[in-house]
Amino acid sequence: MHRVFSGIQPSGVPQLGNYLGAMRNWVALQDGHECIYCVVDLHALTTWQDPKQLASQTREMAASLLACGIDAKQHILFNQSAVPAHVRLAWIFNCVARMGWLNRMTQFKDKAGKDRENVSTGLFVYPNLMAADILAYRATRVPVGDDQRQHLELANDIAQKFNHDYATEFFPAIEPVILGVAARVMSLRDGTKKMSKSDPSDQSRINLTDEPEAIALKIRRAKTDPAPLPGDPAGLEGRPEAANLVGIYAALAGTDLAGVLREHGGKGFGAFKEALAELLISHLSPIAEETRRWLDDPGAIDAVLRDGAARAAEIADPIVDEAERLVGLLKP
Ligand code: TYM
Repeated sequence: MHRVFSGIQPSGVPQLGNYLGAMRNWVALQDGHECIYCVVDLHALTTWQDPKQLASQTREMAASLLACGIDAKQHILFNQSAVPAHVRLAWIFNCVARMGWLNRMTQFKDKAGKDRENVSTGLFVYPNLMAADILAYRATRVPVGDDQRQHLELANDIAQKFNHDYATEFFPAIEPVILGVAARVMSLRDGTKKMSKSDPSDQSRINLTDEPEAIALKIRRAKTDPAPLPGDPAGLEGRPEAANLVGIYAALAGTDLAGVLREHGGKGFGAFKEALAELLISHLSPIAEETRRWLDDPGAIDAVLRDGAARAAEIADPIVDEAERLVGLLKP
């Protein structure tokens, strides 16, 4: 059975892109795989987090994942900082990865922008910790959105270089699992920018905790162009906002772009947006309600995370012990 690993940062409330690009697929993969899912609080620290909020956001992210259908009994759900094996392996990978490799990471370039001299060194080595997250479990399948593809290629480069440098086959190859028509959900305000929980504009995204009225309003206000919807997917070319809304609709309705356009092609955006908002509300309201139910009992969430961390450590500790032995660290 393949072992699945994936992570999500508790740097804000999860948004629709997280849900369609990742969380929903995490839930689906539970059938037939051994799954380990992690709220990556150490990754969140790479950009400033208010210490008063980080712990509660970690708990809230866990609540959202449970509400989406993560089964923390059959599988494992925990927060990254509770399993020290991740940072032990990350240090070794800091010494395996090359500056040139990390310099090519587009996410670092985007996040650092013009202020490169002033971002944390953690942000630069972020992908090494991500490789350690996965390889501390020798996981082989990693469900993510399209924006994480380059990081997973780097994780494979690190695993290969480790194996080569230490003449071993210890780390397996990692296969990205990037699924569906909504592997890259874009901002509602700008169809060329990815939807993100850290975008300063709340109007740019649908949060999984948004009330139905807020969802309807954000979709009504979502940027579009004046032309009606095209009759087939080729007509979405050069219309990023239209393509994004049709993609979201298709993902939620369990169909493809052609299927949506067969039904809605030729119509204006008014009617289509009404239908899209309804679809979103019917999917997300039960998740928001279940999240609130979990958040009423923070002790229960902490118990899930504690149990998950203990079971995660049981798998990761011996693997990272062996990696340390392979590089020659003394284990007296
Ligand atoms: P993060 O927290 O930015 O996002 C969590 C997951 O959501 C996906 N995602 C999207 N998918 C489609 N459209 C979007 N607009 C969108 N925005 C986010 C991301 O691709 C991701 O799958 N580095 C990772 C966290 C991480 C990780 C790992 C992932 C740490 N260690 C090990 C996999 C394996 C991140 O920042 O995700």
